[in-house]
Amino acid sequence: MLYLIGLGLSSAEDITLRGLKVVQQCARVYLEAYTSILMSASKEDLEKLYGREVILADREMVESSSDSILEDADKVDVAFLVVGDPFGATTHTDLIIRARSLGIPFEAIHNASVMNAVGACGLQLYNFGQTVSLVFFTDNWKPDSFYDRIKENRRIGLHTLVLLDIKVKEQSFENMARGRKIYEPPRYMNIETAASQLLEIEDLRNEQAYTEDTPCVSVSRLGSPGQKFVAATLGDLADIESGEPLHSLVILGHRTHEMEIEYLLDFATDKNKFQKAVETEVESAKELQPPAPVDEDND
Ligand SMILES: C[S@@+](CC[C@H](N)C(=O)[O-])C[C@H]1O[C@@H](n2cnc3c(N)ncnc32)[C@H](O)[C@@H]1O
Repeated sequence: MLYLIGLGLSSAEDITLRGLKVVQQCARVYLEAYTSILMSASKEDLEKLYGREVILADREMVESSSDSILEDADKVDVAFLVVGDPFGATTHTDLIIRARSLGIPFEAIHNASVMNAVGACGLQLYNFGQTVSLVFFTDNWKPDSFYDRIKENRRIGLHTLVLLDIKVKEQSFENMARGRKIYEPPRYMNIETAASQLLEIEDLRNEQAYTEDTPCVSVSRLGSPGQKFVAATLGDLADIESGEPLHSLVILGHRTHEMEIEYLLDFATDKNKFQKAVETEVESAKELQPPAPVDEDND
């Protein structure tokens, strides 16, 4: 059996009891080590808790040599550990499809994910639209497909969860071109970079999907002892020091409930400014055309 097991968000002990029992009886245990990190635990901490060797599975292993992970999984149990939830903004569907094609049964053991724990900042999950990802820009590569998604969400008043890029075991262009297996140190996008990149694209596109006055919440180290939220305008978030990873950002929509605002104000660097930014959003939304009515006969 192939088990996809969620590890939760921060410490080795965040694994569920069922997840732990399964890991302890697996013949091989892989840790997917490139889409997120377990902030308060090392590979050695996990090995100590599980009493099992943990094999780090990088992108190359999972995407190009998944057969080594699945070897004999029709006869023995294999665990594939994913930080957060195995289906939370990381779907290893390729691995599952490959397992299926080899006749290997699989089971997922779920856990908390950034996708649901983000509710701890006070914003209701019901009021979120499409989640987007923001990658590190380079001088000549600034992908901006997130921009249209944010615009769509904000058009109908919904919040946007922005997940930030992680670069683990990446090669420089030069090393890749020369086929040298030399890897850059890991990089995790912080809130300052995210806010600056978002504003850079708004400057280029100029469609007012958001502005530097748009109210946002930074979400840092969610679920860990160092968890921190900062409620501020996007412009102000470009100047904060968000500290150690991991980070995400929420861009507010205008359909904000007053209880959401009351909760968020506790995290505001400047309460009056934040409150005003939210009120301006709500006011300007009144000028928007309502979305086109749905033709119910076609439902
Ligand atoms: C590709 S997603 C993977 C999510 C993971 N599978 C889960 O269910 O939580 C990774 C991104 O989510 C965000 N993220 C994950 N855990 C986080 C945390 N504890 N605090 C803040 N952001 C987090 C970061 O932006 C990170 O780069």
